[in-house]
Amino acid sequence: MAVDFDRIRPNLDGVPETLLIPLWARAQEQSRPDPLIIDPVSEQIVEALDYDFSRFTKKNVDAENFCIRSRVMDSLVGSILRDSSPRTVVEFGPGLDTRFHRLGHLSKRWIEIDFAEVIALRERFFQTDACRQMISGSMLDQTWMDELRGTMEEPPLFIAEGVFYFFSRDQIRDFLGRLKTEFPGSSIVFDAVSALYLKLSNLQHPLANSRLEFALSPQAADIPGWDPEMTISNYIGFGDSPWYDDVMHRFSWWKRYAVRLLRPARHAFMVVHTEFLN
Ligand SMILES: C[S@@+](CC[C@H](N)C(=O)[O-])C[C@H]1O[C@@H](n2cnc3c(N)ncnc32)[C@H](O)[C@@H]1O
Repeated sequence: MAVDFDRIRPNLDGVPETLLIPLWARAQEQSRPDPLIIDPVSEQIVEALDYDFSRFTKKNVDAENFCIRSRVMDSLVGSILRDSSPRTVVEFGPGLDTRFHRLGHLSKRWIEIDFAEVIALRERFFQTDACRQMISGSMLDQTWMDELRGTMEEPPLFIAEGVFYFFSRDQIRDFLGRLKTEFPGSSIVFDAVSALYLKLSNLQHPLANSRLEFALSPQAADIPGWDPEMTISNYIGFGDSPWYDDVMHRFSWWKRYAVRLLRPARHAFMVVHTEFLN
């Protein structure tokens, strides 16, 4: 799993630097007796990186939010993989996450696509093999689509956690349209926020060079509005049962109140499974 724990300066800037926030969040969580997400490697990677992670604490970044996000997405991805015959997973923008270690056994093959500087860093900590591949480049590139299309026997499951925020609506609409055309029958799990929460997130965002741009309307209604052949097969609003039941105890009283009694709060943060019809 880990191949090189020599101290290293990550030298990331702009959007790629944002991967350090969920990484730090997962590492923080490991010292708890009941971690929301099991990711011991995150602690080792944080130790190995020559980076001032204290800036996230100083800016009051809520580490729990990132761990809850990963946990809810793991639950949904796990249930999709368990309910289907083994399929290829393509994860966009994995940063330094370890979802493959938690769910890779449920897949046939796992492919991770991120910018070259991120994959170079990732390769210092994670190994590839016949079932696990890393691709350097933008997920928007046509190259990986052309390369992978012919190698897949069944439509893949795509995942994008914490990634769509950095694109415009037009980019996301076009990108989903291309996935549908290039990989008919495939589907994607991703997270998004409401327009209001996007504004709040930008106020709290700890890194200057990576503004968040993308927001989605309640029930992810924009997506079938863009194309009726892009259907929403699962929509998990913030606090929805059963997905959040076992993490409610970690919410502050006001968040528990908000998710139970203020219905719009449900759409502040969403995890969506969109299927592309054949
Ligand atoms: C906030 S981080 C999330 C990392 C990881 N998914 C996690 O939750 O720990 C955003 C990630 O998206 C990647 N990313 C952003 N735009 C991308 C693009 N066009 N192609 C590939 N990766 C991209 C960044 O490099 C970064 O690794």
